[in-house]
Order: sequence, then C-alpha cells, then structure tokens
Amino acid sequence: MKGIIIYQGKYGATEQYAQWLGSSLHLSSLKVKDATADALAGYDLVIVGSSVYVGKLVIRKWLRQNLGLLASKKLILFIVCGTTAEDKIQQQQLVHNNLDPLIRKSTKVFFLPGRCIVAKLSLIDRLVLKMGAMLEKDPRKKAVMNNGFDGIDQKCLDNLIEVAEPFLNPELVTSTQ
Ligand SMILES: Cc1cc2nc3c(=O)[nH]c(=O)nc-3n(C[C@H](O)[C@H](O)[C@H](O)COP(=O)(O)O)c2cc1C
Repeated sequence: MKGIIIYQGKYGATEQYAQWLGSSLHLSSLKVKDATADALAGYDLVIVGSSVYVGKLVIRKWLRQNLGLLASKKLILFIVCGTTAEDKIQQQQLVHNNLDPLIRKSTKVFFLPGRCIVAKLSLIDRLVLKMGAMLEKDPRKKAVMNNGFDGIDQKCLDNLIEVAEPFLNPELVTSTQ
C-alpha cells in the first residue's frame, strides 16, 4: 500500500508529530490546504492528523469535503489535544462529534498528547482558554488550562506506527500459517 500523511494544526504540535511520523514511516506529508482529491489519488493509506479547538478537529471541514474519497481508503486518524486517556468519555465524544458515521467505524483513531504554550497563543485563543478555565470545575484541568502544558513525545507514536507498518510493508509481517 502507498501511504501519505495529511495534517493540520495551529501552533506546531500536530506538525511535529506529522514530521516524526513521516521520517519513521518514510512517508511524505501534506498540509490540508494542499491535500486535494488529485493529490490523494494513488494513495491507499491516508494518515490524517489534527489538533482540537473547543471540541472541534481543525481538519473537520476537509474530512467532510473529502468524505466519499476517504471512505474508499484505509484511514488512520491521530488527534493531538489536551484530552488525556483518563478522559475516555471525552475522547469518545470528540470522535463521535467530529467523524462522520460513514468513516467512524473503519477509522483507527489515536490520541496524542499535545502542547499549549499560553504565551504563544493568539489573543482570541488565550481568551477562549481563560474562559474555559473559569468554567472548569476539576482543579487539575483548570490548572492545565491556566498554565498550559507540553506532552509532546515521539514515543507516543509507537502504537500508530505499529498499526500503519503492516499496511505499508506487508512483506515484513511474518505469516502465522
Ligand atoms: C483555545 C484552545 C482551545 C482548546 N480546546 C481543546 C479542546 O476542546 N479539547 C482538547 O482536548 N484540547 C483543546 N485544546 C488543546 C489543543 O488541542 C492542544 O494544545 C494541541 O496540542 C494544539 O496543537 P497544534 O499546535 O497542532 O494546533 C485547546 C487549546 C486552545 C489554545
């Protein structure tokens, strides 16, 4: 299978993961603005990366616009955000609210810890985050929203790479028969 990485983020966390993935899997990557239907022709495996802002995947519009095309390919989605594995229900909600039922079941989804450096945010994003922190009841999450966080780690890609590799290099999969 031929694979490609399509990604979109805002402050570099998603891009960093896309770059690490590209070098680990030897795949090229495209920002979403360049990921036209023509650019995707000939690729069977599409690895899509997106960060999350106020419950929405940055890439959700592109996913919607390319739904038919994506439904015909093997799709892996990595979501870079602040929602951690302890918040399973919130993670499930993100998938449910952002992925069309047509591709939801067949897409393998990975959550990756993101990065939020408050001083580097735009004024609007800083205000949105501040409002979120004011409304948040959980003191741990409130502190994270007020102070930012950095959970980026290349090792977090290990599971995704393990899933993608057999599609890209089926000859490396040892036969059990
Ligand atoms: C204004 C704002 C809103 C955010 N909303 C969410 C959210 O709803 N859920 C979540 O899990 N993370 C949320 N995050 C965290 C980002 O998804 C996280 O910082 C991510 O790593 C950003 O990646 P990027 O630099 O590639 O855009 C938010 C961050 C900011 C600044």
